[in-house]
Amino acid sequence: DLQQTLVLIKPDALKNSLTGYVLSQFSEFHTGLTFAGTKVVHVTRMLAEEHYAEHRGKVFFPALIEMITGHLHYPGEPDKQRVIAIVYKGPDVIRKVREICGPTNPHVARDEKPGCVRSLGTVVALKDAQGNIVGDRMDNLIHASATPEEAEREIKLWFRPDDIPPAIRAF
Ligand code: CMP
Repeated sequence: DLQQTLVLIKPDALKNSLTGYVLSQFSEFHTGLTFAGTKVVHVTRMLAEEHYAEHRGKVFFPALIEMITGHLHYPGEPDKQRVIAIVYKGPDVIRKVREICGPTNPHVARDEKPGCVRSLGTVVALKDAQGNIVGDRMDNLIHASATPEEAEREIKLWFRPDDIPPAIRAF
């Protein structure tokens, strides 16, 4: 089943010099995955909220938006507030990419899948005004589409048709 998927290398990965490491984990040589497109994107609040629309209203949503827009890791440095967006293609690419990522929660990733990319991430407690912990912010270094429908929606959101060569494009 030939698929495409969207990967975002998030600001926490850029900040921690993990870009090369992440790319090497996905490299064609050991995964068989192929690049279909890649770009550096300045993430507006509007794009971030659209991308993460399914999480709107959750306690971690505002922190998630601050994180993906780069406001958190690069405060006051708009020129560094960006992510690297990549489309990979190949047979069963959605599952393969998520396998390399590991579990969403970096603590769970370290316990269950040492060596996966997200095992290098961090979890930061979110507190209310009284100092009570109300949830977590998961700085898990990368995003990867979960289903073929999600992949199509996300690739259309982050890439224009022209960004992907016609010979390689799926939709
Ligand atoms: P990502 O793969 O980019 O997709 C949704 C993001 O929401 C996820 O990575 C996490 O960063 C974040 N997220 C998902 N579930 C939770 C949760 N239960 N608590 C905190 N953050 C979450």
